[in-house]
Amino acid sequence: MGYMGGKHRLGKLIAATIQELVPTCNRYWEPFVGSGAVTEYITHPNITVSDAHPDLILLWQEIRDGWVCTDEFGHAVWQITKDEYAAWRNAAPSAERTVVGFQGSYRRKWFAGCDNQRLSERRNFSKLFCAKIAKSALRAQILCGSYSDVCRPAAGDVIYCDPPYAGTTAFKGTFKFDSAVFWQWCTGLADQGVHVFASELQAPDSWQTVFEKQHQNSLARTSKRNQNEKLFYRGPAWMQT
Ligand SMILES: C[S@@+](CC[C@H](N)C(=O)[O-])C[C@H]1O[C@@H](n2cnc3c(N)ncnc32)[C@H](O)[C@@H]1O
Repeated sequence: MGYMGGKHRLGKLIAATIQELVPTCNRYWEPFVGSGAVTEYITHPNITVSDAHPDLILLWQEIRDGWVCTDEFGHAVWQITKDEYAAWRNAAPSAERTVVGFQGSYRRKWFAGCDNQRLSERRNFSKLFCAKIAKSALRAQILCGSYSDVCRPAAGDVIYCDPPYAGTTAFKGTFKFDSAVFWQWCTGLADQGVHVFASELQAPDSWQTVFEKQHQNSLARTSKRNQNEKLFYRGPAWMQT
């Protein structure tokens, strides 16, 4: 059910940490939503999610509009043949194609090669992946685009960012990510009174670490996959030094 770089093991804890530090806000924004592993635990009434991956966002929108991953389709993705996989790769965008592009692929990376070598599947991962997205898609505003183009939080809002980490392989389906520009954008928002939370391995000075945990990073370039995952904060809930 995983998603490349997804927060499946940490989502609940990250959401709890955010909501403990900032219990109320006008709007919660998540501009790198991926599979929504954090969003599903966010209880704010006004949520806006977005991502730069157009096929991923198409899936979110289709699920919001009633598309459901059936048992049958989920199992077909698990048992997909190389020819079927190639046909889906060249097919027109659709919810089904997005599920194949992630869940039928090597290490769940967007059309990174057919993965039908799993010997057994006790759980229907494609179905679970879509069911998790549904928990947020049915109650959130969903936008498609790069973070600084579509995400416009105001003072008092909360934003949680889970960007591609500096030094990890690029996300297929999106463009190259500039971490320095990202941190400048986040710092600018925090200085305007937005509560900014960001998952990364490192942040610029003046950001507070509010959460730290050993986590397996499937996108790490090195063989050292266990990394010290951190959640950083900057904004009005913390005195700047
Ligand atoms: C680490 S993943 C997020 C995982 C998510 N938190 C989850 O648990 O599933 C990073 C996401 O950022 C998206 N992305 C990459 N570049 C982006 C950009 N410039 N603007 C917005 N999203 C971007 C990728 O498509 C990917 O979904």
